Amino acid sequence: MKRFIVGGGVNSNADLTEKRSFTIIVNVDLCLLVISRFAARGGDAPAARLPEDIERENEMLDFNVPPFTGREFEYMRQAVEAGKISGDGRFTRQCSEWMSKRFQVSHVLLTTSCTHGLEMAARLTGIGPGDEVILPSYTFCSTADAFVQCGATLVFVDVRPDTMNIDERLIEDAVTERTKVIAPVHYAGVACAMDEIMDIAKRHSLQVVEDAAQGVDAYYKGRALGTIGDFGCYSFHETKNFSMGEGGAVVFNRDDKIEEAEILREKGTNRSKFFRGQIDKYTWVSYGSSYLPSDMNAAYLWAQFESADRINADRMATYEFYHESLKDLADREYLEQPFVPEYAKHNAHMYYIKLEDEPTRAALIEYLHERQIHTVFHYVPLHSAPAGRQFGRFHGEDRYTTKESERLLRLPMFYGLKQEQREKVVEAIHAFFTK
Ligand SMILES: Cc1ncc(COP(=O)(O)O)c(C=O)c1O
Repeated sequence: MKRFIVGGGVNSNADLTEKRSFTIIVNVDLCLLVISRFAARGGDAPAARLPEDIERENEMLDFNVPPFTGREFEYMRQAVEAGKISGDGRFTRQCSEWMSKRFQVSHVLLTTSCTHGLEMAARLTGIGPGDEVILPSYTFCSTADAFVQCGATLVFVDVRPDTMNIDERLIEDAVTERTKVIAPVHYAGVACAMDEIMDIAKRHSLQVVEDAAQGVDAYYKGRALGTIGDFGCYSFHETKNFSMGEGGAVVFNRDDKIEEAEILREKGTNRSKFFRGQIDKYTWVSYGSSYLPSDMNAAYLWAQFESADRINADRMATYEFYHESLKDLADREYLEQPFVPEYAKHNAHMYYIKLEDEPTRAALIEYLHERQIHTVFHYVPLHSAPAGRQFGRFHGEDRYTTKESERLLRLPMFYGLKQEQREKVVEAIHAFFTK
């Protein structure tokens, strides 16, 4: 890695930097404004960006803009007009069936977030106090929270520096007689080495919960992420490829778990069976919570699923452009680029670069910020956080988790990022290194 001198620097020792700024439909006025602008465009403008004000040329280029494809409001209106805005209405059903077919998975339950999907999955594994879960420390706190809620102990394992995924070669050494679950996280929508992970799980009778929050419509050897382990969890947060504002799903093939999962999602009742006409009244049968999203949110998501291929192609174009345009800087060892193993088909969820060290990253963030480009770093390793220390331990050596996380920087990536915006980003990065 080449050395060079840059001035300035910002304190990047914050916790989580992802900008979760813009909530769709903050009020009725905005909703009407958006609808009227949209109608004025004839209703089918490709890659519509809303509201337009957020992307004026001279303003800050956001790290993320929530996806909006054009039909969202129409479907949300249909949900309202159908008199069904609570959970499990027409749009929830359509979204679930779409995922089931596209990802080849038997059971799909839409949830209010990936965090809630993970909570459901953790409970469905039956993990409890005294049991252990093996997971990477380089992940969002939700992966860990789900198991902490069940009273389990977290056992963190180092990541591979090339993919930032849990190092499958280190997992077996962390297995004890208390281990119940392995929870791999498909970072940036790039698959973990699932054959090796499933093999360890099989040999030690462990369950696997895939955190595929970022891995929707990404694949491992042709199989959709989230569908390989016992349970998989997706996120439809506004920062994800397909969004419903806040939302998620838990997906699985285990027929033995569907009834329990439905009860857990429906406040501990067998209401799902009742709605299917399988019983004539429903009752409280077990512990549960409320994990159903509103059908209005599912209507928003449905519009995105309908345009999934368009969204994918658009994000992939951004990814490829960054990748091609920054290659010369990688060749000259100013930065490192993401690596995608042969077995993985990623979904362009994220484009990150790795800098020499944390001060260099801080200087680049500031440099880009001065040029109206918002970039962010990512997870601060969980084992270094107070809750991580309280609920878990790091197994083995932290060779890469901390070091690599301090070097990683995520570039603006969202559906509808324009060519001139992509160019602005890569030109500024070039200027930083060669000025
Ligand atoms: C790896 C991972 N897991 C879980 C989550 C939580 O997702 P949600 O915001 O849908 O609860 C995130 C959020 O970004 C994530 O990155």
